Amino acid sequence: MSTTRFLTGITTTGTPHLGNFVGSIRPSVAASLRPGVQSFYFLADYHALIKCEDPVRIQRSTLEIAASWLAAGLDPQHVTFYRQSDIPEIPELNWLLSCVTGKGLLNRAHAYKASQDKNEAAGRELDDGVTAGLFMYPVLMAADILAFKAHKVPVGRDQVQHIEMARDIAASFNHLYGEHFVAPEAAIDEHVATLPGLDGRKMSKSYDNTIPLFTPREQLRRLINGIQTDSRAPGEPKQTEGSALFQIYQAFATEAEAQALRGQFEQGIAWGDAKQILFERVDGVIAPMRERYEALIADPGRIEDTLLAGADRARALVTPFLRELRSAVGLRSLRGGAVAAASPSTARAAGSGKGAALPSFKQYREADGKFYFKLVAADGRLLLQSTGFDAPRDAGQAIARLQKEPQAALAALAGQLAPVDGVGAGDVEAALQALVQAAAAQD
Ligand code: TRP
Repeated sequence: MSTTRFLTGITTTGTPHLGNFVGSIRPSVAASLRPGVQSFYFLADYHALIKCEDPVRIQRSTLEIAASWLAAGLDPQHVTFYRQSDIPEIPELNWLLSCVTGKGLLNRAHAYKASQDKNEAAGRELDDGVTAGLFMYPVLMAADILAFKAHKVPVGRDQVQHIEMARDIAASFNHLYGEHFVAPEAAIDEHVATLPGLDGRKMSKSYDNTIPLFTPREQLRRLINGIQTDSRAPGEPKQTEGSALFQIYQAFATEAEAQALRGQFEQGIAWGDAKQILFERVDGVIAPMRERYEALIADPGRIEDTLLAGADRARALVTPFLRELRSAVGLRSLRGGAVAAASPSTARAAGSGKGAALPSFKQYREADGKFYFKLVAADGRLLLQSTGFDAPRDAGQAIARLQKEPQAALAALAGQLAPVDGVGAGDVEAALQALVQAAAAQD
C-alpha cells in the first residue's frame, strides 16, 4: 500500500477568484490525477461558521465553491469530494482530540494571537470578540485531517502551523491510546505563484482586489482593464518586473507566450493593448469552464447529490475508524466490556455483539530503538506481543496481515511473536476473528 493520501479543505465563506484558481484549484485538480495518489477534498463549512455569521452566504458559497471545483475538472469518481458538515464523525473526533490538546498549544496559534494583538493595540480586552470556535479552530482542522489518516495536506503557508499542531495532537493521542493516527505533513507547492490582484497586492478578498473566477466575459474585460499599471505612454518600454498585469498573464500563458509578451513590453506596447492580450488569454482558459460552471450552478440538486455521494464514501472510512477510537478511549458498550472482564473467550463474545468493545493493536517504540506491537483485549488484557521490528512499517504490515487473515498470519509470523503467559492460541485467534468480523460488518 504505497498510495499517498492527500487531503485539503476549502472554507466556504466566499466566491472563488482567479487567485484561488491559480493557487489552489488548478494545482489540486492536477495533483488528484497523478498516479499513486488518493485525494480527499472537502468544503470546510464548519470552519466557515467561525468567520461568517451570514447563513445565506455560507450556503451560496458552498454551492459556488463546489461548482467551481467541478467545473475546473475535479472528478468526483476519483476524488472523495464532500462537505465537512455531512460527516458527523468529524465533530465527534473534534471532541476526542480536544481532550488531549493542551490549552497552551492553542494559545500559541498565530490566528488567535493575531486577534489578541489587534485587541491589545486597540486597547480592548485581549479576548474581545474571540469565540471558542476561533480558539478551537486548529483542533477541528486536526480532526479533518486525522480522521482520514492523510499523509499530505496541501495548504498555503499561513496554514503550516495548523498542520504542525495536528501532528502534535496526533502524537498526544497516540501516546495515550496507542498508534491510531498517521502524522500528517504540509505539502507546499513551490512552483505555484501567488497571484497579484487589481492593485498589485496579493489577490485576496480582504484587500477587495479580486477578479471572480467565473465572472461573465464582459465583466472580466472591465475588471482586467482596471488592473493598475504605471504611467508609461505607448511606445515607452515597460517593465515586466513588478507588473501585476504581466504576472497574471504568466499564470495563464505558456512559457513561449510569456516570452512573446515580454518582448512586446520591451518594445513599448500600450497598456491598453497589453490588457486586451491578457483578457483574451485569461478568457481563453476560463470560458470552457465557465460554461460548465453555469450549467452546474443552474442545477444545485445535482451538486447536492454529488456531495452526499462523496460523504457516503468518506463515511465508509471514518465510521469504522471512529468506532475504533471510541473503543480506544473507553467509550465502550457495557455489554462487551462486562463479558470481557468475566470470561477468557472475550473476543468471540465481543465480536458477536453489535457495537461491542473490540480488541485493538497498539504500536510503539522501545528504548532499544525497535518497533513493537501488541494486541490488547477490550478490557486491557495483553493477548499477543511482538518482538522488535527494525522499521515501523514492518510492524504495521504484520498488524495488517493479522487483521486480514489471522490464521495464515499467525503461522507466518510465529517467529516474531513472543508468548504471553496465560493466553492460549484459541484466545488470540478468537480476538483476531472478532476484528475480521467487525471489519466485514462495515462493508
Ligand atoms: N483552514 C484552512 C484554510 O483556511 C481550511 C481547512 C479546514 C483545511 N480544514 C482543513 C485545510 C483541513 C486543510 C486540511 O485554508
